[in-house]
Amino acid sequence: MNEEIAALLQKNKDWAASVEENDPGFFQRLAEQQKPRFLWIGCSDSRVPANQITGLMPGEVFVHRNVANVVLQTDINCMSVVEFAITRIKVRHIIVCGHYGCAGVKAAMDNTTVGIVDTWLSPIRALYQRNKAELEQLAPEDAARRLCELNVIDQVRSLCSTNVIGDVWDRGQELDVHGFVYGVEDGLIKHLGVTVGSASDLAVLGLA
Ligand code: CO
Repeated sequence: MNEEIAALLQKNKDWAASVEENDPGFFQRLAEQQKPRFLWIGCSDSRVPANQITGLMPGEVFVHRNVANVVLQTDINCMSVVEFAITRIKVRHIIVCGHYGCAGVKAAMDNTTVGIVDTWLSPIRALYQRNKAELEQLAPEDAARRLCELNVIDQVRSLCSTNVIGDVWDRGQELDVHGFVYGVEDGLIKHLGVTVGSASDLAVLGLA
């Protein structure tokens, strides 16, 4: 077997053994059901693993990741995850978490071509254009960081504008959507002060 793969499988065995040792029966209990309280929508970047950076165990967070944590109503992949998480698992919170140093956001800002992902990043290119006047006042590095934050807020808005979320609120199910950004340089999550728990919150925050 390939060495890297063999090492990876060995790490898995060691990890499973240590989890079971700390908490006997952990996997058996988890096999029966999952009841996570959170849905995480984040970037695919290898430096931003949802469970590890929040200290959550398997079973505690439902996860969807894509390049630059984009939420589109037309993306059947993301929308299936969201619908399943809120109607079947009934998560209480959805976290949209971007990160500083996001290559997807940077590519959208610099208008550099990165292949097929160019199309995927078009909502962020449009976001940059809408905020160009503000962003051009900043040093390039600060502008990139600000665009990472603006992208999170825009994806929260996009998510909260979908029918699937609107229907949940109409039914009176409690669900809050939060905007976070993670620092790859210090390992810390910053709450962007955006929490939407109803259609009227969207209006209050100026996101409707
Ligand atoms: Co990224």
